[in-house]
Amino acid sequence: MLMEEQVAVGQGQASLLERGRPLDDSRAFRRCLGQYPTGVAVITASHDSGLVGMTVNSFASVSLDPPLILWSIRRESRSVEAFQSAEHFVVNVLAHDQIEVSNWFCKGHPEKFEQVAWEAGLGGAPLIHGAVAHLECQRVSIQEAGDHLILIGEVKQYAHFDGKPLTFSNGEYAMTQVLPREPACQPN
Ligand SMILES: Cc1cc2nc3c(=O)[nH]c(=O)nc-3n(C[C@H](O)[C@H](O)[C@H](O)COP(=O)(O)O)c2cc1C
Repeated sequence: MLMEEQVAVGQGQASLLERGRPLDDSRAFRRCLGQYPTGVAVITASHDSGLVGMTVNSFASVSLDPPLILWSIRRESRSVEAFQSAEHFVVNVLAHDQIEVSNWFCKGHPEKFEQVAWEAGLGGAPLIHGAVAHLECQRVSIQEAGDHLILIGEVKQYAHFDGKPLTFSNGEYAMTQVLPREPACQPN
């Protein structure tokens, strides 16, 4: 309970939209998850039968030392075997003006890389031009996680570029806007 002189953190109770159990209504569950905004990346790799690339928002940083990141792939995805076998992959963090790239790599086009400018990075994995960051990774482990696999990669090389990232929230693309009131928390 708050004492009189203490100041409440936050703005009180927001009005409830939905609640439930995830397996009862997966669309409603996804709407709840959509309240957590993410960036958008295209993960690319080169393997025996060519190049693969797919749009994801499951990318997250994990560890600074060693430098580890993760992302997850649906087991039923067409490129799952390619990403499981490729030793390297690249995380291309998309810029706000790359919505078409995101939509392109979300579809199962056979010739995905004919429509974008790119160059080969580590292990031949495509570095997509115009992205705001490139993370060239060596795959270090694959974890089974329900209907997805979690791929963990060690970042061997990175580059980041001027520009605002594309974000994704509640099923829609968006852009970040800085709130000038307070700097973000610096963990101690
Ligand atoms: C914004 C956005 C984020 C996505 N995130 C993921 C993801 O994290 N993991 C995943 O497996 N699919 C994700 N998808 C769906 C894949 O991009 C899509 O299923 C794609 O067709 C898979 O390619 P493939 O089947 O040719 O391998 C996302 C799609 C969009 C538009």
